[in-house]
Amino acid sequence: MKVAGRPMRTIWLAEDGRTVEIIDQTRLPHELVVLRLASAADAARAIRDMQVRGAPLIGAAAAYGVALAMAEDPSEKGLDRAVESLAATRPTAVNLRWALDGMRRHLSELSAEQRFAAAIARAGEIAEEDVAINRAIGEHGLRLIEDAHRRKGRRGTVQILTHCNAGWLATVDWGTALAPVYRAYDARIPVHVWVDETRPRNQGASLTAWELGQHGVPHTVIADNAGGHLMRHGEVDLCITGTDRTSASGDVANKIGTYLKALAAADNAIPFYVALPSPTIDWDIEDGGAIPIEQRDPREVTHIAGWTEAGERVEVRLTPADSPAANYAFDVTPARLVTALITERGVCPASREGLLRLFPERRRHAA
Ligand code: MRU
Repeated sequence: MKVAGRPMRTIWLAEDGRTVEIIDQTRLPHELVVLRLASAADAARAIRDMQVRGAPLIGAAAAYGVALAMAEDPSEKGLDRAVESLAATRPTAVNLRWALDGMRRHLSELSAEQRFAAAIARAGEIAEEDVAINRAIGEHGLRLIEDAHRRKGRRGTVQILTHCNAGWLATVDWGTALAPVYRAYDARIPVHVWVDETRPRNQGASLTAWELGQHGVPHTVIADNAGGHLMRHGEVDLCITGTDRTSASGDVANKIGTYLKALAAADNAIPFYVALPSPTIDWDIEDGGAIPIEQRDPREVTHIAGWTEAGERVEVRLTPADSPAANYAFDVTPARLVTALITERGVCPASREGLLRLFPERRRHAA
C-alpha cells in the first residue's frame, strides 16, 4: 500500500542483502520510523515488543529472524536455538509456528554453508506468498461488500465496523480484514469504516486509522464500547475482523473485544465476517477454547502512551496506583457467531465442513 503516495511494505530485505528492515509500529501514527534488524535477537525483540505485530506479519518476521540467525550460526544447534527463541515471543498467532516449522523443514535438508542464502530466499517467498494470499482475500471479500451495497439499493455508503488492526500493517501488504475494504474503495464503492480504538494498545486508533487515512478511505475512530450502540441504530452494515488463530471447526481467536462485537452483531442480525490467510488455521485444534491466550504486561492497561502537541512521547497512568490490572490480549469468538470466513480460496461457512471444502487436502489430516 502507499504511504504519502509511495508504495511501502511492513518488512523487507535491506539493500545489503544481510539485514532486514521493518516499519516500527510502536511509533505510528506519529512517526514513520524504519528499523533495521540485524540478528535473530533483534527479530525476537521486534515481535515481543510489537514493533511488528498482526498474525501474518509475525510469521514473516519470524521467518526473517531464522534467516538472520543462519548468518550468525548455521549449525543444527544454531537453528534450534533461533526457532526456540522466536517461538517463545508471542503465543496466540499460529502463523508464528507455521513459519518456524516451514523454515526448519526447509533448512534441515541443507548443509550449514547453504543455509543463510536459502533461508533469506525462503523468508522472501513467505513474504511474497502473504502478499498474494491477502490480495486474493481482498478479491473474495470485495464480493461481500458489493452484495451489501446492492442490498442498500446501491444508495448510500456501506458502513463497515472493524476491530484492532487487520490491515496492511498486520501483514506484509494489503491486510486481511481491510483488503476487501481497499478493493471496494478502489472500485469506487462508497465505504466508511468504524474503527474500534481497541484498548489497551489502541491498534485501531493508531494503526488502522493511520493506514486508512493514508489510502484516503473515509473512517471514524470510536471508543470500543460504541459498536453495540451503532449496530442497534442501523449504522453498521457489516463487520470484518482478522484472526490470529482459527480452529479446524471455525472458532476464531482475535484481539480482545472481538467476541463482544460478534455478540452485538448477532443480536442485530448484522453479518460478521472474519478474514484469514490459510496459515492462520490450526488444523490440530478443533475447539477454539484450546487456543492459548496471551496475557501481556498489566502496564498496558494501567497506563496509556501518546504524543504531546510538541511531538514528545509521554506515558500517563490511568488507574489508581494500587489497583491491580489484568491484560488478556485475545478472546475466542465461537464459529456460530461468525457469518462466514473469507480466505484466499474463497468464502465459506465457519465450520469444519466449510473449511474442508476449500482445503480438501486437509481431509485426511482432519479425519
Ligand atoms: O496483538 P496484535 O496487534 O498482534 O493483534 C492483531 C490482531 O488481533 C489482528 O486482528 C490479527 O492478527 C489478524 S491480522 C491480519
